Amino acid sequence: MAKEKLIIFDTTMRDGEQSPGASMTKDDKLRIARQLERMRVDIIEAGFPAASDGDFESVQAVARAIKDSTICGLARANEKDVRRCGDAVRVAAQPRIHTFIATSPIHMEKKLRMEPSQVIDQAVRAIKWAREYTDNVEFSPEDAGRSDLDFLCRILEQVIKAGARTINVPDTVGYTLPDQFGRLIRNLRERIPNSDQAIWSVHCHNDLGLAVANSLAAVQNGARQVECTINGLGERAGNASLEEVVMAVRTRQDVFDCDTDIDATQIVPASKLVSGITGYPVQPNKAIVGANAFAHESGIHQDGVLKHRETYEIMSAESVGWTNNRLTLGKLSGRNAFKTRLHEIGVELESEEALNAAFKRFKELADKKREIFDEDLHALITEENLEHLENERYSLVSLTAHSETGEQPYARLIMSDGGKERPSEAQGSGPVDAAFKAIEALVHSGAELLLYSVNAITTGTDAQGEVTVRLSKGGRIVNGQGADTDIVVASAKAYINALNRLFAGIERLNPQL
Ligand code: KIV
Ligand code: ZN
Repeated sequence: MAKEKLIIFDTTMRDGEQSPGASMTKDDKLRIARQLERMRVDIIEAGFPAASDGDFESVQAVARAIKDSTICGLARANEKDVRRCGDAVRVAAQPRIHTFIATSPIHMEKKLRMEPSQVIDQAVRAIKWAREYTDNVEFSPEDAGRSDLDFLCRILEQVIKAGARTINVPDTVGYTLPDQFGRLIRNLRERIPNSDQAIWSVHCHNDLGLAVANSLAAVQNGARQVECTINGLGERAGNASLEEVVMAVRTRQDVFDCDTDIDATQIVPASKLVSGITGYPVQPNKAIVGANAFAHESGIHQDGVLKHRETYEIMSAESVGWTNNRLTLGKLSGRNAFKTRLHEIGVELESEEALNAAFKRFKELADKKREIFDEDLHALITEENLEHLENERYSLVSLTAHSETGEQPYARLIMSDGGKERPSEAQGSGPVDAAFKAIEALVHSGAELLLYSVNAITTGTDAQGEVTVRLSKGGRIVNGQGADTDIVVASAKAYINALNRLFAGIERLNPQL
C-alpha cells in the first residue's frame, strides 16, 4: 500500500536563528535555503519578517529565490505582524503565513494578559488577515503542551473554520512525554469536528531531550507535518533535529505508515553548512551527522562490519551524505571552474566584483592548501560575507604569534580600526590567548568570552581550522567566526568578527517575547 506523505517543515532559519548568537545574514539564509531546497524540504520557514527590516529583506530574498519549496514566514497574531509577513512571502512561488498566539493558562494570564475568549477572537482575526495574502495559512497555539485540552479544541475548531489549513501543535517548553504528546494529537484529531480539514503538524523543543521522540509519537498518532531544524538548532536546548526525524521514519518503515520526500544524501552537507554559518559545532557523537556517528571503535564491531555491514549499522554513512571529501578545486583551477562549482553548491555571488574578491581569496587559500573541498569553499564564502557586513569596524591586517617550550607565548598584531592601522602585542597562556589579549588591549570591549571552539573543516593537517568565538556583553550574545589554515589567525579573525557584531548592535525582536 502506498505510504502517506510526511511533510518536512524546516525552521532552522527562524527557530534555529533564535539560538544565542546564531543570527544569519541574508546571504547566509539564501545559501541555507538553496541547500534545503536541494534536499527537497517541503516548507522552509525563512524568518520572522516583523523582527527587523533585515529579517524582512532576508525572508523576501529567500521567497524570490526558491521555487521548489514553500516559503513561510512567522507572525504573531496581530495585524501589523501578519501584514508584514504577507508582504515578505507574497513574492514566493508557494507562500505560507504561520501565525501563532499562546493558549496555556500561564501564558495567557501572565504574558498576554488576555482572557481565553479574547485569545480566540485574536487568533481568528489573524487567520482572516493572513488569508488576504494566501490560502496557505498555518496556526500554532503556543505552549500547547501545557494548554487545557478543552480550550485547545475550542480555539482550533474556530481557526480551522476561519481558514487555517495547517494546525501546528507546539511543545514550546519541551515539557511533554512521548505517550502524552502522541495522545494529545490523537485527542485533538478525534474531538475537533472539522479536524479533517487541516493537516496536523508538531513542533517540539528538546528541553528534556525528547523533541524527536515526541515528534515521532505524534506521527504515529496522525501528525503529517513535523517542524524541525538542521542539527537540532533552536531556542534553548533546540528543536527536533531534521536528520533524526527523517532517518528514524525512513529506517523504521516497518513501523511508520508514512515517509518523507527528503533526499537524505544532502543531510550531511546541510549539517556542515549550518554549523559553519552559525558557529554551532556538531558534537562528535550526535546521531546521523556527528563525526563519530558511523565510526566503529571496538574490534568486535569493526570485524562484524567488515564481514557484513548490517551487523552493526542500521543505515549506511553514504545514505546520509557521508562520502569521502570530494576534491573540488586546486591551485590551477581557473575563475570559471571556481564560479561553476560555487553555483553547483548553491552560492550565487551578486556581482563580478564579489566574484573577483572571492576568487582572490580562493587563490590565496590554494597557495597554502593543495586540495580545496566544498567545505573550504563554504568557509571561504562565509568569511567573505562576514567581512562585507555593514558596520564592520575592525579587521586583522597582520599577526605574528610565537610559542616555544619553556617560554611565555606572545602575539603581535596590526588591526585596522575604521581604516586606521593600529599595532598591539600581548603575552598569554598560549598563542591564541595572547592574540585575544592583544586585540582587547586595543579595543577594551570588556566582553565575556562564553565559547571558543576550533573545528577542522576537512581532514588532514593542512585543513583549515574553523573557529567560533561567542562573546557576551550587557545581555547581548554574539558569535564570531574565522577560518584559516593557521588556527591562531583563524582565532583572531573570529574574535574580531564577534567584536564587530557586538559593536554593530543590530537588535532584533524575538517572536515569542
Ligand atoms: O516553540 C514555539 O512555540 C514556536 C512557535 C512560534 C511555533 O516556535
Ligand atoms: Zn519553537
